[in-house]
Amino acid sequence: MTARRAGPLTGRARVPGDKSISHRALILGALTVGETTITGLLEGEDVQHTAQAMRALGADIQRTIDGEGQVIWRVRGVGVGGFAAPEKPLDFGNSGTGCRLAMGAVAGAGVLATFRGDASLSSRPMARVLAPLAKMGARVIEAADGGRLPVTLQGAAEPYPIVYEPPVASAQLKSAVLLAGLAAPGETTVIEPTATRDHTERMLKHFGAKISVKHTGVNDIGRRIVLQGQPELEAAPVLVPADPSSAAFPLVAALIVPGSDIVLEAVMTNPLRTGLLTTLKEMGAQIETVNANSDGGEEVADLRVKAGPLKGVEVPAERAPSMIDEYPVLAVAAAFAEGQTIMRGLRELRVKESDRLEATVQMLRVNGVEAAVEGDNLIVTGKGATLGRAAGGGSVTTHMDHRIAMSALVMGLASEQPVAVDDAAFIATSFPGFAALMRLLGADLS
Ligand code: S3P
Repeated sequence: MTARRAGPLTGRARVPGDKSISHRALILGALTVGETTITGLLEGEDVQHTAQAMRALGADIQRTIDGEGQVIWRVRGVGVGGFAAPEKPLDFGNSGTGCRLAMGAVAGAGVLATFRGDASLSSRPMARVLAPLAKMGARVIEAADGGRLPVTLQGAAEPYPIVYEPPVASAQLKSAVLLAGLAAPGETTVIEPTATRDHTERMLKHFGAKISVKHTGVNDIGRRIVLQGQPELEAAPVLVPADPSSAAFPLVAALIVPGSDIVLEAVMTNPLRTGLLTTLKEMGAQIETVNANSDGGEEVADLRVKAGPLKGVEVPAERAPSMIDEYPVLAVAAAFAEGQTIMRGLRELRVKESDRLEATVQMLRVNGVEAAVEGDNLIVTGKGATLGRAAGGGSVTTHMDHRIAMSALVMGLASEQPVAVDDAAFIATSFPGFAALMRLLGADLS
């Protein structure tokens, strides 16, 4: 796929449902007795894999359409500890979130399951999740080198509650432990020195679990999460808000394509996901938050975004968990800003769908932008309005990474020359309809 400069982006759009919440709604729905209805579920490939896995573990999951033509997913769960042993390996495709959260849920059920995924997922670290799950009584029967997929896990019939401090800031890791802890007697505690996205905690509360969350540390940056095990989860309707990590692409595009003025509707603004908005505003971006509202336990708002000059900034390492998936597209914004943008503390980017730190630098360099990695920091030098736009003209290798593909295409919409990506297929893992939505706003993608 290739992106070219065209006129300004204009109009309104609503990006698909949040990926993190969609995975959790299916998994927690599967652990609940009764029928959970989900409105706005992301129908990307990653989430479809999670739905398939939950079916294989015994949940009844149907996609239905109501009288008004609205898609409603219905999940009839099996209750905490009620999973059946799947007959075949559970395939999670490209999705680290689906796989790691499901490992937690299986670890707390006495069943044997094999987890597999595509080449990208099979290269990602799983030992970080398997270690605490083993402490809770699950057994790794088989794993590839370094604890990678395929992994066969024997869940614990009677898991132990643990007190756990994740060695890396990871919502997936936290969530896996909490999901396993659902089946354990007593209290499972997770201590986070830096808070990560809290959708699991919010949704557990929504389904009736007893969970307390205390803010800790300087500026309340940490969390102490205590879950009472063996709750009766009660089915409750879930409304999935629009995904801020997907909204990031049209948002940055509108900032850098001259003359643009768009509205992105009902984007989730959970404060643990808004690091990109904070950073872009520091860069001088014109982003107005309107119709702020609370929808189904998560904050949402419309975002009005206008093109305008941006300046380079320093992004502190503590902000990384609240914008961990947004660095490639922030780097694109930085390429169009005036001066240097220094993004600190990005080690985790090396273990995403690709080595995203390296892939981001390459994406920028093949398009004539000065970029460097120094330790865990990414440094991008933009020329800004005075010195001219990014050259473009490059062909970007996406390494099976949807966010590299979308970031590169956003870049092409504002560069001197078109930008091409080698493979746009992985965009469907998280943002089905990306190209169509961007074209409706006025983008030239072919
Ligand atoms: C996610 C957590 C993050 C993020 C991923 C979604 C989640 O991963 O990158 O896209 O839904 O919990 P880590 O927990 O590995 O940081």
